[in-house]
Amino acid sequence: MRKKIVAGNWKMNMTPSQGAILVTDITRQLVKDLDVQIVICPPYTSIDRVARVIRETKWVFCGAQDCHVQLSGAFTGDISAAMLQEMGVRYVILGHSERRKYYHEDDILVAEKIKTAIGEGIRPIYCCGEELQERETNQQFEVVEMQIETALFGLSPEQMSEVVIAYEPVWAIGTGKTATPGQAQEMHEFIRGMIAEKFGDDIASKLSILYGGSCKPENAHELFSQPDIDGGLIGGASLDADAFVKIIQSF
Ligand code: PGA
Repeated sequence: MRKKIVAGNWKMNMTPSQGAILVTDITRQLVKDLDVQIVICPPYTSIDRVARVIRETKWVFCGAQDCHVQLSGAFTGDISAAMLQEMGVRYVILGHSERRKYYHEDDILVAEKIKTAIGEGIRPIYCCGEELQERETNQQFEVVEMQIETALFGLSPEQMSEVVIAYEPVWAIGTGKTATPGQAQEMHEFIRGMIAEKFGDDIASKLSILYGGSCKPENAHELFSQPDIDGGLIGGASLDADAFVKIIQSF
């Protein structure tokens, strides 16, 4: 009914030549006609090499890790969605907790970036999730509700149909601590419920909601077996071809 997606977020890892080797290794191990869409999100400088390898496969897509809110202009050091689109990028991660933490991005800005990306034909993977202290004080639902309302509720239904959501509890990212399948399912169900209330059941039932945060071969199967978990956004484990392929095969 809805797309299963496994996306690899390479973060600031992999030079162009290293990235080409890794993506070749991944695609070689995968069987064709998988029921899962695979998205590889290299750093900007490795996109071209990765996209060239992927182009021959048709079932693996290239993603980016961010884009600017404007399409062009005097923004030294930035990259626009139009530039990414021309390079073959079909997905873009937006609102990742590391962008929020190190670049002070908030959901008001991310909401605009989402519209810009969709306008260029790039599907946003919108990241949301609470911090440890918010989880410890049981505020996780309030926090995620506010993030989703601010980032997504200004979209039209057509725009919302292009969005993929990644629930990434900040305390689980790169820490080795994973949300339990129950904790993740509970939040994914909550998010789908919010989207259904605002945009209707049809859009909500087709929405892919990925889990991210220390997802690895050992826990992927149990996470992906939950009814509202439609795949994963994988950081560390996506840098190892065997581990990443095992995660994909967990479906
Ligand atoms: P991790 O990162 O898998 O290394 O925890 C996930 C992410 O940041 O998207």
